[in-house]
Amino acid sequence: MDKKRMVSGITTTGKITLGNYIGALKNFVELQDEYDMYIFVANLHGITTPIEKEVLRQNIKQAIALYFACGLDPNKATVFLQSDVSEHSELSWILTCNTNIGELNRMTQFKDKSSKLKSSNGTEFIPSGLLMYPVLMASDILLYDADLVPVGKDQKQHIELTRSIGERMNSKYGQMFKIPEEYTPKVGAKILDLQDPTKKMSKSSDNPKSYIALLDNIDEVKRKIKSAVTDSENLIKFDPENKPGVSNLITIYSCLKNISIEDVEEFFKEKDYGVLKDEVSAAVVDLLTPIQNKYKEIYNSKQVEEWLEIGAKKAKEKAFKKINKVKNLVGLNYKKK
Ligand code: AMP
Ligand code: TRP
Repeated sequence: MDKKRMVSGITTTGKITLGNYIGALKNFVELQDEYDMYIFVANLHGITTPIEKEVLRQNIKQAIALYFACGLDPNKATVFLQSDVSEHSELSWILTCNTNIGELNRMTQFKDKSSKLKSSNGTEFIPSGLLMYPVLMASDILLYDADLVPVGKDQKQHIELTRSIGERMNSKYGQMFKIPEEYTPKVGAKILDLQDPTKKMSKSSDNPKSYIALLDNIDEVKRKIKSAVTDSENLIKFDPENKPGVSNLITIYSCLKNISIEDVEEFFKEKDYGVLKDEVSAAVVDLLTPIQNKYKEIYNSKQVEEWLEIGAKKAKEKAFKKINKVKNLVGLNYKKK
């Protein structure tokens, strides 16, 4: 039987975080044997908010090397750079013309990001790409007939919109897309900000102490975990509502050690927050050390470029066929191709 297909990506707006790793990357790596994986570096999504070009270039290069350093295997997964497959942008335009502005206006991420932009730069310049972002994401997914999309919780609304757009296109023009489902990990779909555990850990946070980047210096990582916000109860219990900080540390430990939340609670029974933080810190360091070593080894290698070329070629073959089918069904090709 053919393997089911998974499609996903990470945006190049900043450094890849432990949240990205636990919510997304870890699953890409673990599932690459079982699924036909299409994993890309979402650099076109990376320009939806203003970014310096050198910073962007650096983020892209880091993300690519990190994907492989975390264990994506170019012989198993199709790994590529989004802008190397121009069909993503092409399909995005066709889908944009079939998406209601109201649907996009309702997206929580758009509302959050646009209000943040307004308050941070004081201007009224909201790039329309920020509004259209979920349509590009729908294109990324529908282009490859994904069965499943492995993402963290914050992307749920975008996947629902992708399904609506896909269904709308199928009923308006004829069957062209598979309708995908989201795939979120049971534990770790939303890793929280270390300083404000009511928010998700985000690479675009202004406070570096609130997130762990996969490339953070190891001493810095330890310091960040030590200063993570907990509470004054000194009781290690998983209770996300009343003890978000402690529950977040328990979640991180559970994901990195691959043990259940209950087992983590049992392990830390009668221990104090100091021990919890030391153990979480050790688990994060054990994760990051080999990743950082591998990263350094491959960062400037020609091999990474070759892997990406192979990935883009493979993705392009699929994307090219699909875009032609879409163009035929929509009526854009006056001669049937
Ligand atoms: P982004 O950084 O927004 O491009 O996110 C890339 C992937 O990481 C998406 O699947 C997100 O849902 C996931 N992700 C981002 N932040 C977190 C977080 N704090 N916890 C869990 N997953 C996350
Ligand atoms: N929008 C996603 C995020 O910020 C990243 C992304 C872009 C993506 N295209 C995608 C994820 C397609 C899954 C599938 O998290």
